[in-house]
Amino acid sequence: MANEDRTVLEIKDLYVQYNTDDAVVHAVNGLNLTLKEGEKLGLVGETGAGKTTLALSILKLLPDKVGEIRSGSIIYKGDDLVNKPESFMLGLRGRRISMIFQDPMTSLNPTKNVGDQVLEVINLHFPDLTAAEKTAKVDEMFRLVGIPASRKGEFPHQFSGGMKQRIVIAMALIAEPELLLADEPTTALDVTIQAQILELMRKLKDEFNSAVVLITHDLGVVAEFCDTVSVIYSGRVVEHGTVEQIFEGEDNHPYTKGLIHCIPSLSDTSKRLKPIPGRMPDPRNLPEGCCFADRCPFCKEMCTTTMPEPHEKDGHMILCHLYDPKEAGND
Ligand SMILES: Nc1ncnc2c1ncn2[C@@H]1O[C@H](COP(=O)(O)OP(=O)(O)OP(=O)(O)O)[C@@H](O)[C@H]1O
Ligand SMILES: [Mg+2]
Repeated sequence: MANEDRTVLEIKDLYVQYNTDDAVVHAVNGLNLTLKEGEKLGLVGETGAGKTTLALSILKLLPDKVGEIRSGSIIYKGDDLVNKPESFMLGLRGRRISMIFQDPMTSLNPTKNVGDQVLEVINLHFPDLTAAEKTAKVDEMFRLVGIPASRKGEFPHQFSGGMKQRIVIAMALIAEPELLLADEPTTALDVTIQAQILELMRKLKDEFNSAVVLITHDLGVVAEFCDTVSVIYSGRVVEHGTVEQIFEGEDNHPYTKGLIHCIPSLSDTSKRLKPIPGRMPDPRNLPEGCCFADRCPFCKEMCTTTMPEPHEKDGHMILCHLYDPKEAGND
């Protein structure tokens, strides 16, 4: 047991693009990521950073003909999913890997009542239960996500956005997946329900040792829920570390520093929120050097011409020239 490799997912040098009629959109650009059994990884970054694209790539659900994995590997428990046929992916999706989509309507069928949709998932995963046990499980799941079971005969359009999202969450959790990809699962929910959902995901981890990738804009949720954090910018992980290394350490990528400054401080109410000036580069036309260079307060000339190498210390990785060894003679 001690020497067992507990790696669930290893993504190596992944490049994903969208081939549209008028341009190639470089959404994921040399991304690396490793996830161990039971690990809860927070994936944070501004809109358009490539977070959803990454999750869709893992499940091979990129839009047909447009989305393309150009190179790299996505190794899930020893299998490189990039080369696997659809038949193999069908065995993984919703069973061993579940995804909570950013838009709940992606996962709900508008023509079926929500109880039947949850029941379908139970039929798939627990075919040996009796009808009464299945019904009890549906009711239990509704209760867990805070919706009265008496509403299970209703249709998705009769629910609010937050309630739809909770049903989708119920469907993703019921399968007791080995890996849960949760794309902004709590953004549309109020804080009480949000706390309950996080608690549910935590239980999933405790009971089944599921690994979780939590995609969110909310650094507070990450600090509370996750073990590790990957900060993603222009389709690359620019910093990775434990929650402590990211939020409490001395060293951070300048982009992470900017993101952390965007969180309002309770102790200092006089300070205004400081958004990071500028915006992410156009993914159709990425710059040569560091993608954050033109927004970075520490930008040096080499940052605009040369992509930085990752610097790692105690598992804390920062992709930035600021951390180049001094003897390299760059200043
Ligand atoms: N179907 C598509 N066709 C073309 N470009 C796309 C498509 N889907 C996404 N993109 C582009 O790919 C880039 C990454 O998008 P993605 O949705 O992965 O970002 P994200 O990090 O999930 O953002 P958000 O936080 O807003 O959800 C963006 O520039 C986006 O415009
Ligand atoms: Mg997204």
